[in-house]
Amino acid sequence: MTHAIAQHQFPAHFPDFVSRRMDLHYVTRIAELLGGEHPHAWQPTPASAVFLAGNDYLCLAGEPALVGAQVKALQSSQGELLMSAVYLQEGSAQHQLERKLAHFMGAEDGILAQSGWAANVGLVQTLAGPGIPVYLDMQAHASLWEGVQSAGALPVSFLHNDMEHLQKQLQRHGRGLIVVDALYSTNGSVAPLAELVQLAERNGCMLIVDESHSLGTHGPRGAGLVAALGLSDRVHFRTASLAKAFAGRAGFITCSSYFKGYFLSESRPAIFSSCLLGHELAWFDAAIDFIAAADERRAALHRHSRALREELGALGYNVSDGTEQIIALEPGPEPKTLALRKLLERHGIYGAMFCAPATPKNRSLVRLTLNSGLDRAQLARIVDACDAIRGEADLDNWSSTRRLRKLALV
Ligand SMILES: Cc1ncc(COP(=O)(O)O)c(C=O)c1O
Repeated sequence: MTHAIAQHQFPAHFPDFVSRRMDLHYVTRIAELLGGEHPHAWQPTPASAVFLAGNDYLCLAGEPALVGAQVKALQSSQGELLMSAVYLQEGSAQHQLERKLAHFMGAEDGILAQSGWAANVGLVQTLAGPGIPVYLDMQAHASLWEGVQSAGALPVSFLHNDMEHLQKQLQRHGRGLIVVDALYSTNGSVAPLAELVQLAERNGCMLIVDESHSLGTHGPRGAGLVAALGLSDRVHFRTASLAKAFAGRAGFITCSSYFKGYFLSESRPAIFSSCLLGHELAWFDAAIDFIAAADERRAALHRHSRALREELGALGYNVSDGTEQIIALEPGPEPKTLALRKLLERHGIYGAMFCAPATPKNRSLVRLTLNSGLDRAQLARIVDACDAIRGEADLDNWSSTRRLRKLALV
């Protein structure tokens, strides 16, 4: 994606209904609201920067065991059959890897998809049909909402992690699918999984849990939060992006072997988009073994999350929405959030700006994602930077700070 603000060279011959939408982006949002700066275009990162905008939570990129496995697979490749997963035969390398990853998560079988997005869209689309209610936490990932749309199902939202509201919605709309993230991607909050399982069972619903941000980082040997709570047999499907702790490009769905056969012939992303390549499978094969043995990295990640949340809280930042390795600093309006991101960059701290459609319109934030490799000096630099910029960033008047003050008054 180019961040340059184009001067209408191309939209000139676009029809009005397109150029009006592009004007909303380039003119109304970027030029007028953000003073000509793109929310996601950061300055070149100096070598000393503390980069907190990626999701390689356990620092797997460049890990010799994984790179070696991938190189070996590329060098011994006999040429790949580029085709959709529906044609894969039993016993193929992909099917073997799918079982290995499923067993790692305590499931019978599984399906690798091209991405977490494709896994979620494909799964919801094969389960829900026109008119079937799909109950989504308001903060559930966009790919899950896209699956509902693709199914022509009925989206029914409930307030974030609010089980009373979910219960009310269930009473109103009846049996369907309940869809949540285990660990939410904008603020590091955790779903009340045990309560969700009970509600699903009591109301005859299926439960889908997206473990993108908890697979590898949480649970026994990294098996995720559902496994950590002993709920693997009571959650119908778990999905995950493998572009987070697994540091590759793919998505995954746990399921039974019986469901897998149905999915491969029904899911549009499985039918109409080609499957993974051999060297991608080799990476994940090695990653499962590496991650299973990475207790020390997991412990370091959790230590960093606890320490940083505590220190930021003491400085007056409202980080109370979440508890885990994703930390949201939420000024609210986009211009304020852009200013915060740039202030942090001036101190060598690089976070990612999240704004609509990833957040509600006036709840934009800078997301800091931690990783296991951060050292003491880097953690101290993050805290020092957040301390130094409080006045200039106008922390006192952020919407999240006002929420915190309100909570203190209650
Ligand atoms: C919770 C969640 N689910 C799914 C996805 C999509 O994953 P991928 O990037 O592999 O398509 C993401 C990525 O942003 C995510 O955060």
